[in-house]
Amino acid sequence: MIEIPFSKWYAAIPRRRSRRQFEPRPIETALLAHLNTVCTEFRPFPEARSVLVTQSPDEFLTGAIGFYGKIKGALAFIAFIGTMDSQYVQERVGYAGEGIILEATAMNVYTCWVGASFRPEAVASLIGITKSERVLAITPIGYAPEHWSLKERVLTGFGRSHRRKSLSEMVSGLEEIHWPVWMKSSLEAARLAPSAVNRQPWRFHVELENITISVDNLKDTFHVSKRLDCGIAMLHMEVAALTHCVKGTWEFLEPPDVARFSFCPPPCKKRYSCVSLSNLNA
Ligand SMILES: Cc1cc2nc3c(=O)[nH]c(=O)nc-3n(C[C@H](O)[C@H](O)[C@H](O)COP(=O)(O)O)c2cc1C
Repeated sequence: MIEIPFSKWYAAIPRRRSRRQFEPRPIETALLAHLNTVCTEFRPFPEARSVLVTQSPDEFLTGAIGFYGKIKGALAFIAFIGTMDSQYVQERVGYAGEGIILEATAMNVYTCWVGASFRPEAVASLIGITKSERVLAITPIGYAPEHWSLKERVLTGFGRSHRRKSLSEMVSGLEEIHWPVWMKSSLEAARLAPSAVNRQPWRFHVELENITISVDNLKDTFHVSKRLDCGIAMLHMEVAALTHCVKGTWEFLEPPDVARFSFCPPPCKKRYSCVSLSNLNA
């Protein structure tokens, strides 16, 4: 099991964007081998695993979801698989899968979480899964033009599908004026997490020694669990905390709560002035 390479993943958070039109250029063999190793070794929870497949995902992708348009052209993909008899499988697959996504981003490889517009059974029979497992999502991986085509810009609403709610719309509890710098960075990083149809279902309740993540309501849409989105936000939150030298532990909770991040002891003040997301090069 690899440790979280937090500086690298923190820098990748603001750079990550979902891409849906890929170039016909294969990922270099060494890079694929590296991503494959990260898939195998970043396994924070036994019920969440990731499998890299060196074949185009196009035949497993269905039509457009919402207004996004069809995803096409990638030459490889990663499948995110969960063992369904675990109560916390969704958030754990989200957490583990986002580690792989951030690693790919750091390597300048583009991705797009796909939880709705694909055929899970077809992917399952290609890679082989056990009876208790399900493919919860996949991501195409590959290169995409640095400059967005007009088509991609139109399909993502000229950036609308990437826009996020403000922190004030999603945070309750301790007032912002009392948040240490690292806490604000962690909440900002969680806010930048991707979610299905950009629904941003996470809510954060902040207390002096912990932050609780919950879902906004118990209605899942597009057949994708909101707890999976929350697992992604959890990883972003922890990566930012680690970058500010704050270690915490996760306790998994019953719906509508998802998990609580408890941090102790309070970090040394001098270390608060680490990296800020806005200071990072895009
Ligand atoms: C769990 C999950 C499932 C998703 N499923 C799909 C999908 O089925 N099809 C698709 O085109 N995009 C999908 N997306 C991508 C989101 O639409 C995208 O992350 C969101 O609009 C935010 O944009 P950004 O990733 O560029 O920040 C999914 C994202 C997540 C996190």
